[in-house]
Amino acid sequence: MSRRYLMCRPTYFAVDYTINPWMDPSTPVDAELAIRQWTELADIYRDLGHTVELIEPLPGLPDMVFAANGATVIDGTVLGAQFKYPERAAEGPAYLEWFARAGFATHQAKFVNEGEGDLLLTERFLLAGTGFRTDPGAHGEAQELFGRPVIGLQLVDPSFYHLDTALCVLGGPAEVAYLPEAFSAGSRRVLARLFPDAITVDEPDARVFGLNAVSDGQRVVLPVQAVGLMSELERRGYRPIGVDMSELRKAGGGPKCCTLEVRV
Ligand code: ARG
Repeated sequence: MSRRYLMCRPTYFAVDYTINPWMDPSTPVDAELAIRQWTELADIYRDLGHTVELIEPLPGLPDMVFAANGATVIDGTVLGAQFKYPERAAEGPAYLEWFARAGFATHQAKFVNEGEGDLLLTERFLLAGTGFRTDPGAHGEAQELFGRPVIGLQLVDPSFYHLDTALCVLGGPAEVAYLPEAFSAGSRRVLARLFPDAITVDEPDARVFGLNAVSDGQRVVLPVQAVGLMSELERRGYRPIGVDMSELRKAGGGPKCCTLEVRV
């Protein structure tokens, strides 16, 4: 089925600071290549019949391309992001303003939350990560605002600092895919209990951001380097679509990070 996505062109993309272990400002970034890879991702969505909307990138905000962090939108209600690090703080109001202008009911967050980086909606639950970015207080805030049962999940590996780097909502028969090692023992047991048919991935697939994927329940757009996950998806009846996001990965992001789902 058709989805609506908000994206932000990586016009000002750079790796100028380090707020996750993937970011090394001494590694050169090919800004032109980043734009080409991002454009290909947007084109894939359009080819699949999805709607891509755009927010104007702002100079001085190199991570603004990671639209998933900009807000959380469920049933037309928007919870604004409140970023943990000052380097990204100005993105929160920029995204919230876009939604306000587009006529959405917007809510300013009280607690630190980094949008769909840590808040992922399944059919039954709102999965909510914490440990590196999003404050656990935001979990209760999201539950109250959206009226969806929130399941808190504890992230333990700094390489997988956002929930959307460690878990992907697939929909369909498996419901989710995740890297068990990225979660605390208790959270692993919660995931096993809630999602007995989930796909569990190995670390090499997760390290190329294979879990930073965007699924419409059938077609799954994911980094082409995640070869193990691609074949497992196929085996389970999904249609994997590979995309190369190597430049954006230098900032610690993949296809899902560049994509904010707008659920009206
Ligand atoms: N450099 C960005 C940060 O560390 C990357 C954000 C990736 N986004 C995501 N949804 N995981 O904040």
